[in-house]
Amino acid sequence: MKKLMAANWKMFKTWDEAGSTARVLVELAAAKLPEDREVLVCPPFTCLKAVSDAFSGADRFSSGGQDFYITDEGAFTGEISPAMLQDCGAKYGLTGHSERRHVLGENDEYIGQKTAYGLSAGLSVILCIGELLDERKAGRVEEVLERQLRLGLKDVPADVAPHRISVAYEPVWAIGTGEVAGPAEIQEAHAFTRKVLVSIFGEKANEMRILYGGSVKPTNCAEIIALDNVDGVLVGGASLQSESFSQIVLA
Ligand code: 13P
Repeated sequence: MKKLMAANWKMFKTWDEAGSTARVLVELAAAKLPEDREVLVCPPFTCLKAVSDAFSGADRFSSGGQDFYITDEGAFTGEISPAMLQDCGAKYGLTGHSERRHVLGENDEYIGQKTAYGLSAGLSVILCIGELLDERKAGRVEEVLERQLRLGLKDVPADVAPHRISVAYEPVWAIGTGEVAGPAEIQEAHAFTRKVLVSIFGEKANEMRILYGGSVKPTNCAEIIALDNVDGVLVGGASLQSESFSQIVLA
């Protein structure tokens, strides 16, 4: 299983900035990228084609959408479909990111619909899960992760190839705060996630990637990526500069 080194640029970058960041990333990292790694960048929709073009010809570099709607086309003002993302070169889509759950009000049922629809439309999907600080303090981490996993993956077609499904564990209190989860916390959450995935999908869950996200930096990536059941990272702030993201990708 190749480790997935993924960037979520959130609502940052213009077309020109995105294209040049992606081109420099390829210059810095493509030739040295270990065989067992893949790179993914999820820019704003408006920059998707710029990133896809910069990655064309770069082996194991792909682009993805940060969100998508649950149908192909129609009267849904402001929305974008998996087919439209794919038209801009995207191979991946994110679902369930904590900012969409907690800032934009998406619930588990809707996230589950998106995950299933994105997969059926041909995207590889990264379902993001993670507890709030209050939930951790109340000892509810496993309850929250299990609910988000079971509802988020509820309608996934049984025949989907396991490498097309990834889960990103992103504890909300570690996102954008500089406070990274400790190795024990990451390992516990990832082992629990694997257990739930196996209970849903059986043995093929061992071929699904579980990424860690939350204040990943060039200085902590090597330690995180070496932990059991950590099959990649999903990086926000430290992915915005090609120099720092290239160090993460190669860590
Ligand atoms: P930071 O790396 O900025 O903490 O963001 C993590 C994240 O939300 C990635 O999806």
